[in-house]
Amino acid sequence: MTAASVTKSSVTPPDLTITPRDRRFGREQATPRWWHGNNPYASALYNALSATFPEGEAFFVESVRNHRGGVDARLSGEIKAFSTQEVIHSREHLAFNRRAADAGYDLSKLEAQVLKRLAVTKSRPPIVSLAATMALEHFTAILAHELLADPRHLDGADPATAALWRWHAAEEIEHKGVAYDTWLHATKAWPRTKRWNVKAKVMLFITRNFIVDRTAGALELLRQDGITGARAVGGILWYAWINPGMFRKIFTAWVKFFLPNFHPWNEDDRALIAGFETSGEFAAAEPTRKVRSAG
Ligand SMILES: [Fe+2]
Ligand SMILES: [Fe+2]
Repeated sequence: MTAASVTKSSVTPPDLTITPRDRRFGREQATPRWWHGNNPYASALYNALSATFPEGEAFFVESVRNHRGGVDARLSGEIKAFSTQEVIHSREHLAFNRRAADAGYDLSKLEAQVLKRLAVTKSRPPIVSLAATMALEHFTAILAHELLADPRHLDGADPATAALWRWHAAEEIEHKGVAYDTWLHATKAWPRTKRWNVKAKVMLFITRNFIVDRTAGALELLRQDGITGARAVGGILWYAWINPGMFRKIFTAWVKFFLPNFHPWNEDDRALIAGFETSGEFAAAEPTRKVRSAG
């Protein structure tokens, strides 16, 4: 790869558009308790992730918007579209979490843990919240990529719920550069080494918390299913790390975050968004009102 092509690919693509797709999922009927292929481990892991979204995504939006002063018109438009997408994601995951509660799960312990983590971050200077958002948005984007790239991750899942996850994944890929570009703007006066040190430390910290908290959350939900001890731990570790092994499969993409010329759009994976948008699954999703345009 030439130096010119590295430079060219280290930014958000000029023709990227971020379009909130205002859709509703799974409102028609109850979601089965083990909606993911009747597999308690798969259902528990995705439910544990969903429990974090309403509060987590509100935090992302707040953290990015707190640093939008002085950004150019393009990034300003992207921040608006990103915020709209995240607000709609929160709405849909809140509805999904209610269906999980209707199926008998109590998510309150998981939600309390999210609030505890967010309170610690919010007690620090606002740039720490932006750094955490930037790292978590990359983490979310690589999970989203893997989810759309390998259909086995949602094999056998309840169709409306699978559509919810794929829709969310497509939009996470689409706005993956927004928090990062806002971070570059907010830290533009920092020396490169300071910026790298902070972002590396923050990524290591949030990765540790993400893996520990989501695993603990999934184990709590399995406990509510009556699955405990070595069976629960073995089942969740097998599902998360071995087969289909989502956490293992994102490792290479995760490592790239630490490279000196990293930018989320060094990999242009918009083909995955197009693949979802042209699927019958997306066409069948229920629109709520006229889709708002970016910016
Ligand atoms: Fe989201
Ligand atoms: Fe996001």
